[in-house]
Amino acid sequence: MATIQPHGGTLVNRFNPHADARSVDSEVELDSFALSDLELIAIGAYSPIDGFLGEADYRSVVEQMRLQSGHVWSIPITLPVTEASAGRLAVGDRVKLVHDGIVYGLLELREIYRPDKLAEAQHVYGTTDTAHPGVKKLLDRPDVYLGGPVTLVRRPEKQKFSSFYLDPIDTRKIFAERGWKTVVGFQTRNPVHRAHEYIQKSALEIVDGLFLNPLVGETKADDIPADVRMESYQVLLENYYPLGRVFLAVFPAAMRYAGPREAVFHALVRKNYGCTHFIVGRDHAGVGNFYGTYDAQLIFRHFTPEELGITPLFFENSFYCRKCGSMASTKTCPHGQEHHVTLSGTRVREMLSKGEAPPPEFSRPEVVEVLVKGLRALSY
Ligand code: ADX
Repeated sequence: MATIQPHGGTLVNRFNPHADARSVDSEVELDSFALSDLELIAIGAYSPIDGFLGEADYRSVVEQMRLQSGHVWSIPITLPVTEASAGRLAVGDRVKLVHDGIVYGLLELREIYRPDKLAEAQHVYGTTDTAHPGVKKLLDRPDVYLGGPVTLVRRPEKQKFSSFYLDPIDTRKIFAERGWKTVVGFQTRNPVHRAHEYIQKSALEIVDGLFLNPLVGETKADDIPADVRMESYQVLLENYYPLGRVFLAVFPAAMRYAGPREAVFHALVRKNYGCTHFIVGRDHAGVGNFYGTYDAQLIFRHFTPEELGITPLFFENSFYCRKCGSMASTKTCPHGQEHHVTLSGTRVREMLSKGEAPPPEFSRPEVVEVLVKGLRALSY
């Protein structure tokens, strides 16, 4: 069965464990953010990108949300290094990409450039405020960018949950084997609560399969750790989902918290994993009050359905309504807020870490149990 075309038409494959790194003298150190980008480029998750962006592509992505080729792309994929490291390199070099003393990749160095990071922050994050975790990260990383195609020579180690790490080529195969013509992707950096479940299942009413694809790369310190979340997803699926219609695998990217820009990026990446549809709910990839509740939906108006190639499914803020006796949204529920069960992410984390259970209208008891146990284990 034919699966959806990857973004740009071809699934990039830049993994070659036999590539010879021994004859290469230059090297640069990758932070864990860049290491995850290296792997995601190599396995085709960022197709059509095949390396860290050169300056023209970088500027075009930052300013126009497009690669020079015209393909939609909303988040710059960059390799920041220090002035001192850059000073040891020359354009044309082959460069080893090293993390904690291990060589993971090779870069054909085509460009060394100095970005205007405040402009990048303003365009991509909509702010230069360092209270924004994505902006802080951007400004904390080194100031010189390297551009050029990469080869991954070694896969980063997967500790726990290794069976949930699948490449786009694998998920595409699985969706085809399951006979799914339409697959909706779901991004999350949180446990799946009732509102998430409601919008996933609403989408499942109209598509063949659900790809639950939680982000497990770097997140900010107060987000719930991926290990604890992974257990909670499994318990939720076992108890409440038709297992033949849902597939769980991780998305090993770092979280940018770029709201609308990241929603477009998340959608395009899930297209590469083989999804035909992608859920964008309330304040997707948002943080604090930096974005309007539905900004991450409105941004999709900049693009035609053809150039996106994946259909975003937009959902209103959802909640349990005691008067309706069911999950609902402002689109379907006529009752006032006093009847709605809503809790902020911060409040939920506070409750969980004190061992308090959020109500079953907010989160499934089996999920709460895993989260409370997991967070308790971490605090010892
Ligand atoms: S994030 O990765 O987008 O930051 P989060 O877990 O907060 O993760 O949300 C996952 C998806 O569910 C996003 O598309 C978000 O917009 C949507 N979402 C989260 N909570 C709600 C809600 N109460 N109502 C509607 N959509 C929601």
